Amino acid sequence: MLSNLKPQPADKILQLMQMFRDDPRENKIDLGVGVYKNAQGVTPVMRAIKAAEHALWETQETKAYTGLAGDPAYGEALSTLILGDARDESRLAAAATPGGTGAIRQALELIRIANPDATVWLSAPTWPNHPSIIRFLKMNMAEYRYFDDATRDVDFAGMMDDLAGVKAGDVVLLHGCCHNPTGANLTRDQWQEVVALLEKTGAIPFIDIAYQGFGDGLDEDAAATRLVASRLPEVLIAASCSKNFGIYRERTGLLMAISPDAKMKPVTQGNLNFLNRQNYSFPPDHGARLVTMILNDEALRADWQSELEEVRLGMLALRQQLADELRQRTNSDRFDFIARHRGMFSRIGATPEQVAQMREKHGIYMIGDSRMNIAGLNARTVPVLAEAITEAGV
Ligand code: LMR
Repeated sequence: MLSNLKPQPADKILQLMQMFRDDPRENKIDLGVGVYKNAQGVTPVMRAIKAAEHALWETQETKAYTGLAGDPAYGEALSTLILGDARDESRLAAAATPGGTGAIRQALELIRIANPDATVWLSAPTWPNHPSIIRFLKMNMAEYRYFDDATRDVDFAGMMDDLAGVKAGDVVLLHGCCHNPTGANLTRDQWQEVVALLEKTGAIPFIDIAYQGFGDGLDEDAAATRLVASRLPEVLIAASCSKNFGIYRERTGLLMAISPDAKMKPVTQGNLNFLNRQNYSFPPDHGARLVTMILNDEALRADWQSELEEVRLGMLALRQQLADELRQRTNSDRFDFIARHRGMFSRIGATPEQVAQMREKHGIYMIGDSRMNIAGLNARTVPVLAEAITEAGV
């Protein structure tokens, strides 16, 4: 049987991660996978996570199963962090998942159960694992224009044109904040227009929010998700705690499904529980418990928020430094978009050849589509990157 297997296509982000590990050069710079690194190049365990782990070790008396949707306290705490005042308990079903990817996968399977003919619309470009999972599930998929290669900003006219073609019951996947891979985001007014269009067409928004707190702040980054949740009858939201709590390997995510009315909520919740049971039974608890402890404890929460804010401001400072360096070197403002972009990533608009040149000559690793992870930089490496970008003629 196993001899029937064919090799699977490699994930380009994970492939690059391996190439970087295999590169013996000491001065190599990793701008590939979306993992936060501090100025020392370390992905630290956040202080509040350490403190919560310590307290958990002291107090936890059982590792017995929680519930199929995870501990309800986790769903409540994280959905409140994300939805704020837009949280409508009477319509909200939620289930813990293994990471944000788990939430995306479960959401897609839920869509497939509810409407197997639905087309899932993805931004062009999007995180490569979105189309990969959709293809794997043999679901219909379409793209809407999103990134304008010339301005390195959102092609909003193109996006609205394409979304005008969605049918009632189709699903539109939107990045709640900090678009991955481009770093270009919709303004508040543009979000209003998207919501109006979704209302008009009857398409269902599916929000992937994996970088809350990495862009303009915890509430600001959730504003679009809250707007969508407060206006539309049906909404799916896949959330990740990997980045903003720094607990990547703990696989801590949450799928939220907002039903049109309170009557449907238990059925939706039952379907989320069912899907968890089919795929992995009980979701992992360790990361979810730490998140719950932090969000529900005033001191831990304040410490977490202040560390997250340091991370966010650090990335913004690196963006500004890089834009300034490039302004100086190129005598132009064409890289100013780097300071305007938000989140971990910016797509800088280099060709695959230029990306390869930077990797081979300078040991600078970015994804082939020229997505770079800003958090992989530090004050010392920014000028090195600026020099390489200029030299490659980007
Ligand atoms: C990324 O886009 O680099 C991250 O979301 C990590 C991943 O799993 O791809």
